[in-house]
Amino acid sequence: AIEHTLSIIKPDATRRNLTGAINAKFEAAGLRIVAQKRIHLTKAQAETFYGVHKERPFFGGLVTFMTSGPVVAQVLEGEGAVAKNREIMGATDPKKAAAGTIRAEFAEDIEANSVHGSDAADTAAHEIAFFFAGIEIVG
Ligand code: CMP
Repeated sequence: AIEHTLSIIKPDATRRNLTGAINAKFEAAGLRIVAQKRIHLTKAQAETFYGVHKERPFFGGLVTFMTSGPVVAQVLEGEGAVAKNREIMGATDPKKAAAGTIRAEFAEDIEANSVHGSDAADTAAHEIAFFFAGIEIVG
């Protein structure tokens, strides 16, 4: 089925001017960028977005990192987009990410790992609604 998933190009990647290189990987894999905006998250916004992780030891560092520079939030559309995007991104830890994946090629470490992608269809709907109004998603 055609799905939508939420992607974030993280501050380590925008800082190194990798937005276009990452978008090229999505498009080459058949994912369509149907919404996109560059924003600088506030601490409150980052804490809310990553709320499921608030008890994890990396939460404080994650919020500091995600607010350290601009991010590019995007909606990707395509056949099985949620799983396909996770495949293109590779494992959270770039040391474990398969060759050719975004994280293997671009991530700095397990925290500054260049991209976020929704982990399931229900999470995707919730995460897309966090960043975008329906009118901003143009398929
Ligand atoms: P993401 O897929 O956006 O989901 C949670 C983020 O927390 C993760 O990518 C990393 O940026 C960050 N993170 C930092 N340390 C860890 C860790 N040990 N395990 C998982 N995620 C981590």
